[in-house]
Amino acid sequence: MSNFVSSSIGKKFFMSITGFFLMMFLLVHLSINLLLIFDDSGELFNMGAHFMGTNPLIRIVEPILAIGFILHMAYAVYLTWQNMKARPVDYKQVNQKEASTWASRNMFVLGLLITSFLVLHIMNFYWKLKIEKSVGLVMVSGAEMHDAYTLVAGLFKSSLAYDLVYIFGAIVLGIHLTHGFWSAFQTMGWSGNLWRKRIEFVGNVFAIIIAIGFSIIPLYFIIRF
Ligand code: HEM
Repeated sequence: MSNFVSSSIGKKFFMSITGFFLMMFLLVHLSINLLLIFDDSGELFNMGAHFMGTNPLIRIVEPILAIGFILHMAYAVYLTWQNMKARPVDYKQVNQKEASTWASRNMFVLGLLITSFLVLHIMNFYWKLKIEKSVGLVMVSGAEMHDAYTLVAGLFKSSLAYDLVYIFGAIVLGIHLTHGFWSAFQTMGWSGNLWRKRIEFVGNVFAIIIAIGFSIIPLYFIIRF
């Protein structure tokens, strides 16, 4: 088992498992976040955020998610370093360009941009809600909860720069997924021309949903307020 974990295919395997897990998280996160634009009173979003923050199952999944992120990044650094050692620069530049997509050649840089976005994002919301606990409380349907809506909507209403950073983050994430989705399936053995085309198609649809879905939220606040 320890040989598998340290082997090149073992590392790719863990990259794809953690990648699958992160993609599931993105879908759930996007669904809850879209409540921001369907109810300007903020009650729906506050209830969604409260559910995510208090549901025992989600509380168990949260540390697993954090570990998933860290492993995904650690394996990315290791695999990129191994690839750089294994291939001379000229070969990479001449032969790879035509056979691969721009996203696949720039996964590491895209990943770094997403990580930088995430650090800012965690400071914006998670930190204030969970660590500083500096967000006010509201009553919704008889239950007391953090006013996450005022925090998120406040940021998007008050700063065009943040709106643009969030749109940029969503687009970079979408581009990362155009290759990441297919690559995760390929590592699990779903290859062959027909499957490649199908999975690439579904991956592109998924990437577009994530990029547009997350961008719509700051865009809504730019246009509406
Ligand atoms: C419009 C875009 C987004 C909004 C409004 C938003 C909102 C939030 C909020 C309010 C939290 C804190 C939740 C809580 O602790 O109760 C949070 C946490 C988090 N967000 Fe986002 N998010 C957005 C985009 C993204 C994107 C694109 C990613 C991934 C690259 C992401 C990844 C995370 C992670 C990893 C956490 C910490 C885990 C958690 O609390 O669930 N978010 N987000």
